[in-house]
Amino acid sequence: MLEAGYKKSDDLCNNVCGRASRAVRLRCILRGFDARVLVLLLVGVPALIFGIYLHGQKVTYFLRPLWKSPPKPFNRIPHYHHQNVSMEKLCRLHGWGVRETPRRVFDAVLFNNELDILAIRWNELHPYVSEFVLLESNSTFTGIVKPLFFAENRARFGFAESRLTYGTVGGRFVKGENPFVEESYQRVALDQLIRLAGISDDDLLIMSDTDEIPSAHTINLLRWCDEIPEKLHLQLRNYLYSFEFHLDDKSWRASVHRYRAGKTRYAHYRQSDDLLADSGWHCSFCFRYINDFVFKMKAYSHADRVRFQYFLNPSRIQDKICHGANLFDMLPEEYTFKELIGKLGPIPHSYSAIDLPGHLLQNVDKFKYLLPGNCIRETG
Ligand SMILES: *[C@@H]1O[C@H](CO)[C@@H](O)[C@H](O)[C@H]1NC(C)=O
Ligand SMILES: *[C@@H]1O[C@H](CO)[C@@H](O)[C@H](O)[C@H]1NC(C)=O
Repeated sequence: MLEAGYKKSDDLCNNVCGRASRAVRLRCILRGFDARVLVLLLVGVPALIFGIYLHGQKVTYFLRPLWKSPPKPFNRIPHYHHQNVSMEKLCRLHGWGVRETPRRVFDAVLFNNELDILAIRWNELHPYVSEFVLLESNSTFTGIVKPLFFAENRARFGFAESRLTYGTVGGRFVKGENPFVEESYQRVALDQLIRLAGISDDDLLIMSDTDEIPSAHTINLLRWCDEIPEKLHLQLRNYLYSFEFHLDDKSWRASVHRYRAGKTRYAHYRQSDDLLADSGWHCSFCFRYINDFVFKMKAYSHADRVRFQYFLNPSRIQDKICHGANLFDMLPEEYTFKELIGKLGPIPHSYSAIDLPGHLLQNVDKFKYLLPGNCIRETG
């Protein structure tokens, strides 16, 4: 094809200019090109390359529906709740029987730095949890030294002290390693801590990040009902920065397990096909201080998303928070063009503070920044 094309333009030139010297022939060939095309090539190609450098990730994300097929759909279990309906009826609505006594519940988290969210979580789950298990490391997943934030603020959590199994694990600080290696190392250490906490077969174990908060009534239901799935993922409402920005309802990583000694392993990936609808809240990047955003952006498994230093500029971060825009200038991760295009641009503001964690609304003075209309963050 290409050769034929060249031949053709050569012939054309021969026709116009006849037999001529090499220099003239070259001019002939060049005349064949439109000057505008030439300018377009000289300016356009470098601009395109620069554009791909800046936005290459956007291009690949935008084309994601073409190169990535969606994960296998979950078996979604309808979720019923009303405070006036008896537990026996609620269990029956889900197709389960009710137990004579509730199961014990263990809530285990790998803690980073989200102290306010931990307070909201533990207060939410407090009535139904037998043992809180918390592990923290002096290393982030990307191998950056971090303070033991929980240890330094332990006094704030006096209400949980009598039911707390706390442990620390030293970071390995291996340079240039994939952050997921440190993460799985810390999760294995958490497995040991859960055993130390005294868990036994058929106790419920909640596996979730600190900011994935199951609602209290969900955990109460699961501890009272018989025949619930051995491993059950929880569908949570996804929020970003605060409860003002409701992104979607697609969070599924949190899970609840009926513990089986020697078999149950602490994990944060998909472990079963069952997903219980509307079971709580996932509040990502819900921090009080701008510095916490900077720390999180640099220090965790997605540190590679900080492609330019100006991403860490405090006034830029503040601006993104108030607009519900993406901190890393990324496009949404979706598997169909319909959903991807529907989600382009900032997340719309939500004006609902209905059905949020109780501790948050009981302490609005303390947690105002998590509620609609309060996007300004403290520096420091
Ligand atoms: C719930 O039950 C209480 C006591 O039986 C009753 O007074 C109240 O009206 C009920 N509320 C709803 C919303 O059904
Ligand atoms: C991290 O913690 C481990 C275990 O407590 C300790 O040996 C190590 O010195 C600590 N490293 C840093 C950099 O603080």
